[in-house]
Amino acid sequence: MQAEVFTPEAKNGLETAYPARATRLTHRLTSHPLLDLEALVTLAAALPPEAVEYNPGKLPIGIAPEDVPAPELGVAETIRSIEQAGAWMVLKRIESHPAYAQLLDAILDEITAIVTPRTGAMLRREGFIFISSPGSVTPFHFDPEHNILLQVRGTKTMTVFPGNDETMFDPQVHEAFHLGEHHRNLPWQDEYAAFGEAITIQPGEAIHVPVKSPHWVQNHDGVSISLSVTWRSEWSFAEADARAMNRVMRRAGLAPRSPAPWPARNLAKSLAYRALRKVGV
Ligand SMILES: [Fe+2]
Repeated sequence: MQAEVFTPEAKNGLETAYPARATRLTHRLTSHPLLDLEALVTLAAALPPEAVEYNPGKLPIGIAPEDVPAPELGVAETIRSIEQAGAWMVLKRIESHPAYAQLLDAILDEITAIVTPRTGAMLRREGFIFISSPGSVTPFHFDPEHNILLQVRGTKTMTVFPGNDETMFDPQVHEAFHLGEHHRNLPWQDEYAAFGEAITIQPGEAIHVPVKSPHWVQNHDGVSISLSVTWRSEWSFAEADARAMNRVMRRAGLAPRSPAPWPARNLAKSLAYRALRKVGV
């Protein structure tokens, strides 16, 4: 049997941090045959085109989606020349490939016993692989998933901000996000820098990124490969539905209270929204 990916220290760290705090963890996934550049060229070719996103690397921390310039090279060529391409790319939903689905499941199975007592069933398991040129920047954004980013090659610094934080983002930004109304890139303001925690990871290290914790990523001098293992939970879906319910209430002229942070489950509002959705409101 293969050794587990997460070390005992990582599991202890996750026990303490999950789901609310960003933290650095350690792992053993540094030389896996599915994660070298040639394997990733093959994977990128096997994935549907919409599952391969690539961006030029030299972007400011905050950028409007329409201002991101179009890439000049094809996917395989970009991966093979990633040392000089000045790009970052994401291979999305890698679980659509059976070998990667197996890898993702094996990793997530190791932490199910930590996750489910806190946030309920581990749902919608998805994996993403980030391949980045030296010095590239992933702009400021947040994501709806519980996420552990495992660094496989190279070094990167992720600056993470408090999750669900309404001092940085108005409740209506959260509501619009859950209703799919805005791009995941967030507007950046220099005052935000004071709220961020910079966490640097190298191969063998990982970061637990809480749901909707804003973050941006600076890649260091070498090529970087990272595997992101993500899931949703009963808790995260309920928070999202409560945010959507708040939008409905706001439209009705009310001033709804924001969902309470974990461990509150926001059940009443999420059930109300699910009921409304059923009747097509
Ligand atoms: Fe992200």
